[in-house]
Amino acid sequence: MNSTTPRRVEHHQTDRGYVPVYATGVVEQPWADYSRTDHEVWDTLYKRQRELLPGRACQEFLAGVERFGLGDGGIPKFADLNKVLGTTTGWELVAVEGLLPDEVFFDHLAHRRFPVSWWIRKPEQLDYLSEPDLFHDLFGHVPLLLNPVFADYMQAYGRGGMKAFAIGPEALMNLTRLYWYTVEFGLINTKEGMRIYGAGIVSSKGESIYSLDSPSPNRIGFGLERVMSTRYRIDTYQQTYFVIDSFEQLFEATRPDFTPIYAALGEQPAHAAGDVLDSDRVFTRGNREGWATNADT
Ligand code: PHE
Ligand code: FE
Repeated sequence: MNSTTPRRVEHHQTDRGYVPVYATGVVEQPWADYSRTDHEVWDTLYKRQRELLPGRACQEFLAGVERFGLGDGGIPKFADLNKVLGTTTGWELVAVEGLLPDEVFFDHLAHRRFPVSWWIRKPEQLDYLSEPDLFHDLFGHVPLLLNPVFADYMQAYGRGGMKAFAIGPEALMNLTRLYWYTVEFGLINTKEGMRIYGAGIVSSKGESIYSLDSPSPNRIGFGLERVMSTRYRIDTYQQTYFVIDSFEQLFEATRPDFTPIYAALGEQPAHAAGDVLDSDRVFTRGNREGWATNADT
């Protein structure tokens, strides 16, 4: 977007020593360059989700949205949000152009830096776009960074990512499925009822409704190995959502060393996205209506 704007590229020290400056992917948020339309797209998407999510998203997420003042009008300035993060969980948002190489992304998370795409979708893309933009990254992911347990989980994930990256592509695939079924598409079983915490859901009007209300998908209790051995779909709403009981449960379940788990998972075939196993704790068995039949990722 707008490639003529010069942007300061920052340098970050990494655990693996020298990493070229450009490889961190970090730019300065070009806030003054956002158009009126960009700000209107933010306001429209914000309003839509803010009205939809009470009673659907978990309390921790909604509290984060309020605390950051994400609905104060127009696209938020990362510098303002970073003041709040700095005095709470110590995370920092960094602006990026888009998806980063795995190891760069993990390195940011391992240092409590969350990369956020600085550009926002066009008005004709309100309901769907194929790559993460500012609305997904910021509205979807950032509110939960104020929750201390979730904040620590994200950092642990980054460290785990560096490790999986060093082990090999199969380990990385197992770990990516964990991210997909928790950080992006997770549900949480609260006292008040089933709620959303996944960023891919809360940033999508359609999936915010479908994930909780549709009879099509399975809703299955979270299990570490179950999730890491389950393929997923990137082109449709999910066929299965995994349900945690608490962020503490998620953090504790992912605390062990994954090295032997990766080795064990490598010996067995993966489950299809829509499979229900005898060993599953089933909240809802989907009726599979409207499911695509081509292969999962
Ligand atoms: N415990 C994991 C490992 O040893 C790291 C991890 C923590 C991964 C939390 C994901 C989430 O690899
Ligand atoms: Fe995301």
